[in-house]
Amino acid sequence: MNIKDTTQFIQPFGVDIDLENGIMHNPTNHLVRNASDMLGYYENEDALQQLIEAESNPLHYEVFEVPVPEEYGHLMYCISTLQPGKVGDEYYMTKGHYHTILETGEIYLCLKGEGYMMMKTPDGEWKAEKMMKGRMVYVPPYWAHRSINTGNVPLISFCVYPGDAGHNYGDISEEGFPARIFYKDEKIVIEEA
Ligand code: F6R
Ligand code: ZN
Repeated sequence: MNIKDTTQFIQPFGVDIDLENGIMHNPTNHLVRNASDMLGYYENEDALQQLIEAESNPLHYEVFEVPVPEEYGHLMYCISTLQPGKVGDEYYMTKGHYHTILETGEIYLCLKGEGYMMMKTPDGEWKAEKMMKGRMVYVPPYWAHRSINTGNVPLISFCVYPGDAGHNYGDISEEGFPARIFYKDEKIVIEEA
């Protein structure tokens, strides 16, 4: 067998996932983001501060990974579990990112809950695709992506993307997305900025 310098040879393995609760057993990485990690991301910064102080900095989302080599040819995968809730009128969301290698896509299979995948391109085009249990959202290459939970239960997704994709949060933390999702007048409302 000819093993390329680009792509390590590793042993096959299996991973147990609790689909109902959005937990990967024995993950090697468990990322936890609380409300205080989201400063600067929501429209209503005062409401976020209030949430941090009055509700003891609640859990926002978790990502469970069993990392594989971050290389061409391997497939990274994770379970992403986003709590239900609002900051002011705006639904809880993840930070969102581009992939460092922009021409890499991602598959999100929604296992529980409902919400939206908010996506945008560097040219400012945007699209909000519905997420719900049993629905797969394809995030094509070049599109930044952020999950938003508009339901009452955790929004749980299984994600798969190229091992060498990488994450670029810088652009989103500076520019945000062109649209936000709120609960207003007893409805879910997608508002352009
Ligand atoms: C990986 C990916 C997801 C997110 C996760 C957390 O490429 O898209 O695993 O990383 O849902 O969201 P962010 O990364 O926006 O904090
Ligand atoms: Zn991604």
